[in-house]
Amino acid sequence: MIIAIDGPAASGKGTLGKRLADHFGLAHLDTGLLYRAVARALIDQGTPLTDRDAATLAATRLDAAHLDESRLRGAEMGEAASVISAYQPVRDALLAFQRQFAAQAPGAVLDGRDIGTVVCPHADVKLFITASPEERARRRHNELLKRGENNAFETILADIRRRDERDISRATAPLRAADDAITLDTTHLDADASFEAALKLVLTKIR
Ligand code: CDP
Repeated sequence: MIIAIDGPAASGKGTLGKRLADHFGLAHLDTGLLYRAVARALIDQGTPLTDRDAATLAATRLDAAHLDESRLRGAEMGEAASVISAYQPVRDALLAFQRQFAAQAPGAVLDGRDIGTVVCPHADVKLFITASPEERARRRHNELLKRGENNAFETILADIRRRDERDISRATAPLRAADDAITLDTTHLDADASFEAALKLVLTKIR
């Protein structure tokens, strides 16, 4: 079984994806980490994010199975990932790994922006997870505080709005719900309630 989860920044896709994967005994891939790792590689080597060729080379060389998550989660890397993720050759270079991951037995949960539309168009279940920008900024604020990053709420909200705009309006694999995706608005749901609601949707779909 393949479950595709897409949605905007800080909508809770990752937490939800992990819980659904645990519940069904499936592997889980947060595909945002791949884009973050490409951005990290460029920043580490001092190459500007505008260098498409360098970004493509970094994506080709990425050891996607061994990512150091602790160096990828910060706010700076989310913003940088959204810049290099707009380059088609970067996306192409990361596609095979994602498809192979999805094809493993007994199945997988992948979350990102284009899982239901591009990476796994034949997924058994497609969820599109949203929440208001303010609620997503509140969640990201708490998450970053736990990492020791004390960014102002207003800055985080502005970052989220800018990133949404960039992800939605880019020419390649823009953020959008697949035609056959089920949308779940989690603005008024906490992590447990989101999981319960998503689980119900998945069970209805696969029965
Ligand atoms: O956790 P958050 O939602 O803030 O970000 P993420 O899922 O780690 O993704 C970081 C950036 O990578 C996004 O803003 C997208 O531009 C890009 N991304 C993408 O283009 N396609 C994916 N499948 C996953 C992420």
